[in-house]
Amino acid sequence: MTFSRFLVLSLISILLSGHHSTAQDDKKTYIVYMGDSTPNKDEISTSDLHISMLQNVVGSDIAIGSLLHSYKRSFNGFVAKLTRKEAQEIAGKEGVVSVFPSEKQKLHTTKSWDFIGFPQQVKRSTLESDIIIGVLDTGIWPESSSFDDKGFGPPPTKWKGSCQVSSNFTCNKKIIGAKYYRSDPFDNEDMEEFKSPRDSNGHGTHTASTAAGGLVSEASLSGFAYGTARGGVPSARLAIYKTCWFDGCNDADILAAFDDAIADGVDVISASFGSLSGDYFKDAIAIGAFHAMRKGILTSTSAGNRGPSPMSLNNFSPWSISVAASTIDRKFSTDVRFGDDKVYQGTSINIVDLKEQLFPMIYAGDAMNTSSEFYFPTRSYCFTDSLDQNKVKGKIIFCDVYFGDNLNGVVGVVAPASSGGAARGDVASVFPVPTSILKPEDGSKVYVYLNSTGKPTASISRSKEGPNKLAPYIASFSSRGPNPITPNILKPDLAAPGVNILAAWPPYASQTREALPYNIISGTSMACPHVSAAAAYVKSFNPTWSPAAIKSSLMTTANPMSADLNPDAEFAYGSGQVNPLKAANPGLVYDIVEADYVKFLCGQGYNAKLLQIVTGSPKSSCPKTIATLNGTTPDLNYPAFVLSAPLSRPIDHVFYRTVTNVGSPTSMYKANLVAPTGLNITVIPSVISFTSLGESQSYTVRVWVQAIMDKKLMWSASLVWDDGTHQVRSPIVVYLTI
Ligand SMILES: *[C@@H]1O[C@H](CO)[C@@H](O)[C@H](O)[C@H]1NC(C)=O
Ligand SMILES: *[C@@H]1O[C@H](CO)[C@@H](O)[C@H](O)[C@H]1NC(C)=O
Ligand SMILES: *[C@@H]1O[C@H](CO)[C@@H](O)[C@H](O)[C@H]1NC(C)=O
Ligand SMILES: *[C@@H]1O[C@H](CO)[C@@H](O)[C@H](O)[C@H]1NC(C)=O
Ligand SMILES: *[C@@H]1O[C@H](CO)[C@@H](O)[C@H](O)[C@H]1NC(C)=O
Repeated sequence: MTFSRFLVLSLISILLSGHHSTAQDDKKTYIVYMGDSTPNKDEISTSDLHISMLQNVVGSDIAIGSLLHSYKRSFNGFVAKLTRKEAQEIAGKEGVVSVFPSEKQKLHTTKSWDFIGFPQQVKRSTLESDIIIGVLDTGIWPESSSFDDKGFGPPPTKWKGSCQVSSNFTCNKKIIGAKYYRSDPFDNEDMEEFKSPRDSNGHGTHTASTAAGGLVSEASLSGFAYGTARGGVPSARLAIYKTCWFDGCNDADILAAFDDAIADGVDVISASFGSLSGDYFKDAIAIGAFHAMRKGILTSTSAGNRGPSPMSLNNFSPWSISVAASTIDRKFSTDVRFGDDKVYQGTSINIVDLKEQLFPMIYAGDAMNTSSEFYFPTRSYCFTDSLDQNKVKGKIIFCDVYFGDNLNGVVGVVAPASSGGAARGDVASVFPVPTSILKPEDGSKVYVYLNSTGKPTASISRSKEGPNKLAPYIASFSSRGPNPITPNILKPDLAAPGVNILAAWPPYASQTREALPYNIISGTSMACPHVSAAAAYVKSFNPTWSPAAIKSSLMTTANPMSADLNPDAEFAYGSGQVNPLKAANPGLVYDIVEADYVKFLCGQGYNAKLLQIVTGSPKSSCPKTIATLNGTTPDLNYPAFVLSAPLSRPIDHVFYRTVTNVGSPTSMYKANLVAPTGLNITVIPSVISFTSLGESQSYTVRVWVQAIMDKKLMWSASLVWDDGTHQVRSPIVVYLTI
């Protein structure tokens, strides 16, 4: 979900929650997750097993009706309507890892690729057209020029997926597969949804074209962001899994899409929505990404749009990649001129030119429809139904809060930025009505003007596009770390452009009154597909690399970002801004295999029996030494170092890491440490040499502080292994908890 649309839906749901009774049948949709799917078991008998488990609990007459879906291609499990008691009973059964309710998750170019140093003419691998990016989102608009398949050969032979063809939807050689997932009934028939993989929202078309859209010259949003629109890997293929609808993305559907995508043979999974679960195995995205990892598929996810408060992160499993949103050097401003000739500069993307004409203006608080259910006496929310049509027609209205409703008959909207509102300083949104979002202090002056003038008037200019000289920095909305459940795993992992991104859009879902084929939106959802494409690019040169190796190369080559511009430092930007070109040739990688994750999960308190079911391997066991670690997580070979320590005690910690040579066969790397005074860090050995490719070497990093010198709660340092050609950088973060 983009930033503003997300707010609209969440506000509407808050407003409506008081009006609807939640009394329901006490059965809910639950996911029963049963780990690895045993190989060679045919799919029919898996469903039979699920039904017989249900029969035991809900009775044989309703078991078949209760089973909504069986996962069986890539992992084992099912979806069923259960009462809480029934769910608990199933959770206690042999072979069950977890049972959790299926919740609704929220959805969270052109210039952006050039801005991060990835121009159109970069070297391409001939394997790029064999790479398949699986996009879990709101579907796709296949007629968009960005998905033209001219020049493409047949789908790669490894592709095992399908296309859900209907009278209104077909795939092509660019979009090689598409399917929709909907476990809830479509209860509101007049909702404008296509019961096909077609995208009625726009989000999925935008993210898919950012990742793998072809080159489309002269693309723009009505002249703004004019240029060649392109995805990061224009020759790669797209497999579309429509899991998200007008009401969110259901966990049951997300898992069904992962079950298919993994078996279909995708190379990278892109998921721009998030979950907040505190348990890796009660989280559909974490479970899906875990099984994807086991089959060599990296999952890229969005960090979330709940920033800037600390620990506001979504999607923090160590086997997936979590992407923060950074700005690019493009910004938009929109002037408003009032009848008294004062001009204020607001933030928005307004494509309409009112030609300086002054229109009568009214304060929305004086034009409310008091019989509307959206009427609130204390604040004027400008919705179509909250306004008195007769009073607002032909006018520019001044709203306390505006979320982007298409206000028929209204000439324009002016509103102050509000913390809960549609705009913050760093995000310009497109609205269906000419709109400018003013700074709060300018908004206050407008209240005074409205009060002191008998006939207030105003005009809104077409927006101006200008350079954002401070970029890149992390957008305020981008969710921040630290990692809420595993403090010593850095999250977010890295940052990518997610502000004012131009990409393909269904004309059907236009956010302006004109139907336009490209749109500019912001969100960590827009950042995620940049990293999905970068991962695909890395894989096209290094097809045998594991997901962890690809992730390591993306993180260790990211461009460092400024801690001065971003007070939350690594907890805002992770390792820095993605640099796909460098990532294709990182020199060294920090690899992690499945057994390492199992060991890590042991340290997180998951028991060996559960992990045996998850991995399908009776050999999975938890090493005895784990117990002696005093509850601290065993080191994953993560390409970043985070130490969280209590303020009250001296710090002394040793990290163990292993790097694998993927650069030059014979090479020597020196450790370069950058650390603030007050933090002691040593690396042993400080020089490592390799004599062949694929060779691994281990080292340790010791971080210690004898006496806390100042009141700082967070220190940032870094370690760079440098052989003169490759700089392999890892952030080192120490933060104190009170
Ligand atoms: C079929 O697709 C077109 C877009 O090509 C859309 O405008 C139309 O509403 C769709 N019809 C149905 C019945 O979904
Ligand atoms: C006010 O809202 C009511 C209830 O939604 C609606 O029936 C009525 O037409 C609205 N009146 C105006 C003037 O917009
Ligand atoms: C404008 O007038 C209203 C009463 O009509 C008052 O409540 C409000 O405080 C005034 N606002 C300003 C900024 O003067
Ligand atoms: C575990 O904690 C205890 C008490 O806090 C301490 O004495 C012991 O040294 C710790 N063991 C390790 C391996 O850190
Ligand atoms: C760093 O280590 C040295 C000894 O090697 C010690 O004297 C100094 O106090 C340490 N600094 C901090 C901040 O702990």
